[in-house]
Amino acid sequence: MEAIMKPIKVGLLGLGIVGGGTLTVLRRNAVEITRRAGREIIVTMAAVRDLEKARKYAAADMQLTDNPFAIIDNPDIDIVVEMIGGVTLAKELILMAIARGKHVVTANKALIACHATEIFAAAQQYGVMVAFEAAVGGGIPIIKAIREGLTANRIEWIAGIINGTTNFILSEMRDKGTEFADALLAAQELGYAEADPAFDIEGIDAAHKLTIMSAIAFGIPVQFDCAHIEGITKLTGDDVKYAEQLGYRIKLLGITKRTPKGIELRVHPALIPERRLLANVDGAMNAILVKGDAVGITLYYGAGAGAEPTASSVVADLVDVTRMHTADPNNRVPHLAFQPDTLSAEPILPMGEVRTAYYLRLRAIDEAGVLADVTRILADSDISIDAMIQKEPEITRTLVDIVILTHRCIEKDIDAAMLEIEALPAISGKIARIRLEHLDR
Ligand code: NDP
Ligand code: HSE
Repeated sequence: MEAIMKPIKVGLLGLGIVGGGTLTVLRRNAVEITRRAGREIIVTMAAVRDLEKARKYAAADMQLTDNPFAIIDNPDIDIVVEMIGGVTLAKELILMAIARGKHVVTANKALIACHATEIFAAAQQYGVMVAFEAAVGGGIPIIKAIREGLTANRIEWIAGIINGTTNFILSEMRDKGTEFADALLAAQELGYAEADPAFDIEGIDAAHKLTIMSAIAFGIPVQFDCAHIEGITKLTGDDVKYAEQLGYRIKLLGITKRTPKGIELRVHPALIPERRLLANVDGAMNAILVKGDAVGITLYYGAGAGAEPTASSVVADLVDVTRMHTADPNNRVPHLAFQPDTLSAEPILPMGEVRTAYYLRLRAIDEAGVLADVTRILADSDISIDAMIQKEPEITRTLVDIVILTHRCIEKDIDAAMLEIEALPAISGKIARIRLEHLDR
């Protein structure tokens, strides 16, 4: 029966890092993929800007074009795979493809994070699938895991390293003493970074991915605008060093958590105890912890960026769509795991209400009474201290660095206490504050 099924025809929008990787994997593993999908998946068209650069992928059965709309307009194409990035042209092409009854696979987390509601509504209207496994965690099948594998669970929280570029930069700086700018350049050369690497280093890419996971985990709309976002650009070598001396590693984390007051949705650097598996995830690898009420804590680890790891997710989506495209749309897995008419209006918790622990580094004049003043302000704000060390920074002999680890408290309380401490005459400059996550319950 399978032997006589027509091949499924695919059009690729983009043949860059991800597009090139996808074509390579589809060609190399064609036999295995056909055995799994039940029919051949063949790429008949691919669109790029620079045709000359793409010649290396040329094949007799694949038409190369510099007009992406030619793929959308081709009635023979069943599935469009969007791998050009950006939100303007990509959105236009995807919405047009959907309106023509084509299924869509995309690696574009920015697009899904910012325009999911419109795109999924259109997909529902036209009865097509929009698959986006490659948008989160590179080659890790995390969307499948949360949406299907953990479907029995009430998910409590997700925390993860979900940007390969920043994890690579932090690892290179820590292990090899590489300068930030050089590490970023290497990440770009290895194909990990976004077209605009500010998306990586400012935490925006991680927030795109976190927002998508949060929606799937908790059955809420995708609300990128509500995410709290901090990147790694303000981290100093001193803080990395002090954290290590205290038994912690600093990682850029995405955290989303269900609380009685609302849902936490935040990306920021965080200290993690060095004994945690997440603290030992290095280079461009990603790792995501998901806590479900039935299963407990589960961990997903793998390459978070790069050509073939990301292609692995794109091709998995292609196989899924190929298997499911003749199914009744009502019997398919919902895009956001929950049936679209059951999404909840649970609010995103303002950052001031988040409860976590903190690392504080203050620079103070080395004189009697300063520590007493600082600890009194913290105690008055109900913030209890877990550990405290005093260090002499290399740049000055008259000032000392005081590093304080707090127990868990409310962020707005620590903000208020920091303002009071910064106003003390013996304190020099701003306090460096990094959140601290134990990730144990
Ligand atoms: P690249 O810049 O390497 O590739 C983009 C491709 O799109 C190129 O082939 C480019 O053609 C083509 N393209 C861009 N604009 C047009 C246009 N107007 N018309 C036709 N073709 C166009 O990007 P990546 O492959 O790295 O990323 C693609 C997407 O995948 C992004 O959304 C990204 O966020 C996402 N992603 C990337 C990962 C990675 O590790 N790199 C991992 C997971 C997701 P040309 O080369 O001729 O300019
Ligand atoms: N720029 C992204 C990263 C690509 O570094 O994680 C994978 O989504």
